[in-house]
Amino acid sequence: MTHIARPPATTHRTSLVPAWLFALTTLLSVAVALVSYRYLGAAPEIPEQIGANRFVSPWLVVHAGSAATALLLGPTQFSRKLRARRAALHRWMGRVYVLGCMAGGVSGLVLAAGASTGIPTVMGFGSLALAWLGSTGLAWYRAVHGDIGEHRAWMVRSFALTLAAVTLRVYLAILGIFELPFITGYQAISFLCWMPNLMLAEWLIRRRRARA
Ligand code: HEM
Repeated sequence: MTHIARPPATTHRTSLVPAWLFALTTLLSVAVALVSYRYLGAAPEIPEQIGANRFVSPWLVVHAGSAATALLLGPTQFSRKLRARRAALHRWMGRVYVLGCMAGGVSGLVLAAGASTGIPTVMGFGSLALAWLGSTGLAWYRAVHGDIGEHRAWMVRSFALTLAAVTLRVYLAILGIFELPFITGYQAISFLCWMPNLMLAEWLIRRRRARA
């Protein structure tokens, strides 16, 4: 007699976020990634405080190129359709995403050490880089070992940190609109751009597990 294996109860499928929020996140990610690629051009215009970073050359080009690629690919990896119909493509794009995060994280760590806006910025971006490298590394490790549930959870954390590039720019715009003091604001943003993202990711992961 042939037995047809039923999926375990834990594979119950629910979307992490509403479709409109996913679409908005994708749109902002693509926009920030494409704008960031300008640093790969011949003579890009570099904002004053970034130009004053001790390690701006050559690390900014490495960072902008690799991190922007991770940001561009990240949203597609959460597509259920892509995973189901083009599993090999999902795996290849996943490898490129991980490489983008690794190169972006190492160069982000170097840039954090050279930040021109003081120790709080060094700490804020430095801890972001370490958390990014750690979560992405664990996501990759879990995938290689076939633990898909944990792979997914660590990828959600990793991408929440990749999205720091988007939230950072939203907060910078708010800083400008309300004419708040730049250095203090920038130092605070080096933490604010990722800590709430990570907390939200953790909440979404736990909610999904509770539902499943
Ligand atoms: C998530 C981990 C990340 C870390 C730790 C990080 C770290 C940094 C640091 C330290 C700087 C220099 C800031 C300064 O000197 O004041 C910087 C600049 C920059 N980063 Fe990242 N970054 C991360 C993610 C990303 C991502 C995902 C992108 C993708 C677009 C990105 C794109 C850029 C760009 C374009 C700049 C140049 C500054 C600008 O034009 O606003 N970063 N990053």
